[in-house]
Amino acid sequence: MQPLNHTSLYASTSIAGWSAFLPPNVLTNTELEKRLDTNDEWIRERTGIRERRVGGKTSDMAVEAGRRAITLAGIEPSKINMLVLATTTPDHIMPSTASIVHHRLGLSGASFDINAVCAGFVHAYIVTNSMMSTMGIDTAIVIGSDCLSSLTGNDDRTTTILFGDGAGAVILNKVTKKTYSGILGADMGTDGSGYDLLFCPHQGTIEMDGQEVFRRAVRATVASATRALELAGMKAGDISLFIPHQANYRIIQAVCERMGIAEDHTAITIETTGNTSAASIPIALSVALDEGRVTTGDTILMSGFGAGMSWSSVVVRL
Ligand code: UT7
Repeated sequence: MQPLNHTSLYASTSIAGWSAFLPPNVLTNTELEKRLDTNDEWIRERTGIRERRVGGKTSDMAVEAGRRAITLAGIEPSKINMLVLATTTPDHIMPSTASIVHHRLGLSGASFDINAVCAGFVHAYIVTNSMMSTMGIDTAIVIGSDCLSSLTGNDDRTTTILFGDGAGAVILNKVTKKTYSGILGADMGTDGSGYDLLFCPHQGTIEMDGQEVFRRAVRATVASATRALELAGMKAGDISLFIPHQANYRIIQAVCERMGIAEDHTAITIETTGNTSAASIPIALSVALDEGRVTTGDTILMSGFGAGMSWSSVVVRL
């Protein structure tokens, strides 16, 4: 697929509200040691993960994150004209989980799910922005919510240590200001020849070739993030904060090294969340906004990679 390469495809938008939600049930490495052939030291060294949250349900977590973001934005839910929900763990095969969340939040307009696994939130962010531009939508909510911990085999130490549950939400408002804010450059891609490197059959559990996924994650993230920066006419050094998908701390390190991005310009939340799939980037973004690491006028780079294999990156001026 040719990358999207025209900023006029997107609406000028601002992030009016945001939120992260993690379910309360904490699963530590020490607890995993008791039931799997693994140990805390190995997990921390190889992944950077100390604990993850489990037991979440996609719609419930999405509603929690959505409610908090709406409260922060201070807007009437019925003024939100569209919900795009990135998830790989829908509550049901049909209908979309977005329709359940749309109803429970009291939104108007349309809603749908996007399944691009760990790249899902960035896909949804790009799709939402371009639909805001072409369909006259003034306010939209983008949510990433996943509970991949429910799809790991009980005795599979490779996947159980990695995946956690969570949700993150952002509210986008169309703005008419002199200075454009919103998407400056975006890239999306798929390589379906690698679909079976990370997959989950119906009624089954996640199967993964960890080493190959690791290699491809580094390569594709660097290429995609670089492409998005090129389209924005920017260099890595122009970015206030890099928000990569949180799959493995070593993947983030390798990507940062290759791109010349310092760790103090990178959002890293994986230690306490694990890999929350489509939720990882909006969670990391929400934490960064809560902590004041980025604010209006700053430029961020978000980059996701996951099963498919799928990837997407977006440069956004806040
Ligand atoms: O969102 C995208 C989703 N997925 C990913 O991004 C995953 C990408 N891959 C990874 O994160 C890493 O490949 C893993 C964390 C899954 C594995 O780390 P690794 O450094 O690639 O380990 P490895 O598979 O090369 O295994 C090294 C050793 C092996 O033992 P031997 O053969 O050297 O004796 C494994 O059997 O570590 C062993 N091992 C473990 N030991 C303790 C594998 N998993 C574990 C474990 N605890 N959980």
